[in-house]
Amino acid sequence: MSPEIDETEVETEVEMRQDLRPWFQAIDDLVAAHPQGLSFPEIFGNDKPVEIDVGCGRGLFVHSASRRNPDRNYLGIELDYKEGRRASRRLVKVASSNGRIFGGDVMVAFRKLFSPGTVSAIHVYFPDPWWKRRHRSRRVFNVNFLDRTNELLIPGGFVHSWTDVEEYFEGICALMDNHPDFEKLPAPEERIPQNDMDYQTSFERKKRKLGLPIYRGLWRKVR
Ligand SMILES: C[S@@+](CC[C@H](N)C(=O)[O-])C[C@H]1O[C@@H](n2cnc3c(N)ncnc32)[C@H](O)[C@@H]1O
Repeated sequence: MSPEIDETEVETEVEMRQDLRPWFQAIDDLVAAHPQGLSFPEIFGNDKPVEIDVGCGRGLFVHSASRRNPDRNYLGIELDYKEGRRASRRLVKVASSNGRIFGGDVMVAFRKLFSPGTVSAIHVYFPDPWWKRRHRSRRVFNVNFLDRTNELLIPGGFVHSWTDVEEYFEGICALMDNHPDFEKLPAPEERIPQNDMDYQTSFERKKRKLGLPIYRGLWRKVR
């Protein structure tokens, strides 16, 4: 993948008012317009397998993976609208047919928009660690998240999660490794990047450039 997107780009005043649909849509608007939920064929206009990137940040994974795998759809979900809109601009630039970003809380989308057994893979890269003990309950990868992830995934679907925070990774492994519906697969190996865009996500690039170890987990839903 060539380094064609400037990661330092910020939205101008004019850009902030631009309608980026269908590449960027707000979850709350979608829930209001579709109180019964929304199917992935309605979102993408096709029935290709769907992968979700939770907390997609600037969208490097959605951008790269959607270009690399045109036979699959990629949906990034990002709480921070500014980051989500920035992520969607990468998809607008290439008129992506299989990459979309939803702005808002992943649990609202998981509970109110999507149907059980419709997702092929869920990716959670570098989730916010919420270091202070009293804020730990804000961590996105928790029991409720896993319950809903389990419902949404098809049998044989995957959970990918990477982080540089060893203690968070241990917590994720404790949830996943002991879950009767998932089996742990060998961790993906660290790749040598060919250029600055050749990382899984922006945070992977940032953390690897700091020389930090990255913990990578992969699990498959067995039933
Ligand atoms: C540390 S950043 C990592 C971003 C990206 N995954 C990466 O690796 O570059 C974590 C992201 O998760 C987003 N986030 C946190 N809680 C979320 C939630 N409940 N729903 C959706 N996104 C969330 C944050 O806004 C932030 O952009």
